[in-house]
Amino acid sequence: MLSHSLPIITPGDSDDGTVPKVVDRLPSDSRSTHRRIGISVGCAEVRLARSVGLIDRVRDPKQTGGRDRAWYRYYAGYSPAFVSDALDVLGLPEGYALLDPWMGAGTTLEVGAGRGLRVTGTDLNPAMIVISKGRMVGRNSSSSLEPLARELLIDLKPASRRTFDPLSQWFTNGTAGRLRSLCNRIDEVLVTPGLSAMQRVDSMSSIAAFYYVAMFMLVKDCTRTFQSKNPTWTKRRELGAGQISLTAKEISRLFLNIVESLVRLIEARSLESAPEHSVDSLRADTRTLPLEDNSHDAVITSPPYCTRLDYIVGHLLELSCLNISAESIRSLRDAMIGTPTMGMKIESQTLGENVDRFLHAVASHPSYASVGYYEPNFRRYFEGMSHSLAEIDRVVKPGASVVLVVQDSRYKDIHLDLAAALTDIGTSLGWRLSGRKDFRAVRSIAHLNPKTSEANRAIKPTESVLLYETADSGHR
Ligand SMILES: C[S@@+](CC[C@H](N)C(=O)[O-])C[C@H]1O[C@@H](n2cnc3c(N)ncnc32)[C@H](O)[C@@H]1O
Repeated sequence: MLSHSLPIITPGDSDDGTVPKVVDRLPSDSRSTHRRIGISVGCAEVRLARSVGLIDRVRDPKQTGGRDRAWYRYYAGYSPAFVSDALDVLGLPEGYALLDPWMGAGTTLEVGAGRGLRVTGTDLNPAMIVISKGRMVGRNSSSSLEPLARELLIDLKPASRRTFDPLSQWFTNGTAGRLRSLCNRIDEVLVTPGLSAMQRVDSMSSIAAFYYVAMFMLVKDCTRTFQSKNPTWTKRRELGAGQISLTAKEISRLFLNIVESLVRLIEARSLESAPEHSVDSLRADTRTLPLEDNSHDAVITSPPYCTRLDYIVGHLLELSCLNISAESIRSLRDAMIGTPTMGMKIESQTLGENVDRFLHAVASHPSYASVGYYEPNFRRYFEGMSHSLAEIDRVVKPGASVVLVVQDSRYKDIHLDLAAALTDIGTSLGWRLSGRKDFRAVRSIAHLNPKTSEANRAIKPTESVLLYETADSGHR
């Protein structure tokens, strides 16, 4: 049972732009009662007024400053400052359960845990699981991180391999062997032995993940010449062996430099100790969340974009460090929502007025592949989102707040109002849009796609922060 209390906000407090005044507190174990009473005496409207007023103060999710982006550069991520503002809007008391189903680099988890919330993040990309776990290392472990890194580097010999090492797509065989040997050392010392690559990801502690993050950064730094402007596309050598060569000494120096810089970052943060008991990073598909019904109080997240970004190809280097097989990479690509691949079967369900209108316009477009590739591809995206929002609805408590960050986009001359499209899906689940703030996006995700036309490149997209209240128990 939670030992905290839930603030009750006076009506109209947020209208004048001031921080809402807490006038009373109810014990948290009467939270559901509060909800019930709230509806009968009008508190639901009070809660709504608070949200609508404060949503205006939320900072641009994509504007990052200073250390904000330093943990891991993720083109699809939002800023800790944004999560902090969103949490102010929600007013979740300590100990409450926050979910980020598309957690990416774990920004929501770090900020939520720093505020004493229980946080769960899910993502299908194993690289993001490791990045978000590594992010949870607390300040009290920081002094041991460099000494342990030095130990991991002692007597590093190239790992002998008969089979193809995915790292040799960029590195010479000798260098790939040395890098693999460092990964193996992390596994030997810090990860349960004898596990498959995916099981290692699932069981990895935040300390082991921390060193893997250092490995990711090392290989990314060394392969800059292979990286194109589009972060989801890392070029590989056409033929077999890569060309980058590093001695064991160079690898050690780079690894230690990166560990040092990450340690500085951890020391500058407020997270005291790794809150392993109250933070969960799970490798899971949002269409089938491994979470219990009614188990979370609120959601802050940004869903995959509807711009055919390949989140898996964008992380081939990280996935190669983790030794994820080519076969797993293929099935992961198919399973990602918004993927450009054609893996998942489509169901042809009705997805709301805005989606149906958009899909109809795409299918009617005269350009090559509109009907054969693009329409089914967009349909697959919306079917994935429809199943995922239904799952989110299942795992949150009645009347929970859900914050989504989305960006609009274009296909040819057809505008996709993603905020309206997802609101249709939410409405079909009984959700109510109770607040919205739009920003002119500084970075357009669609522009990362080299196939985006010049005309569409000139249009600055809108990034929307959407705040929903899910249905109260009576309406479910
Ligand atoms: C826009 S990003 C989220 C970024 C995150 N808010 C951050 O700050 O780092 C969307 C995430 O959805 C994940 N994703 C795509 N399809 C998924 C699925 N079916 N299940 C779970 N996660 C998925 C991608 O791996 C990606 O990390």
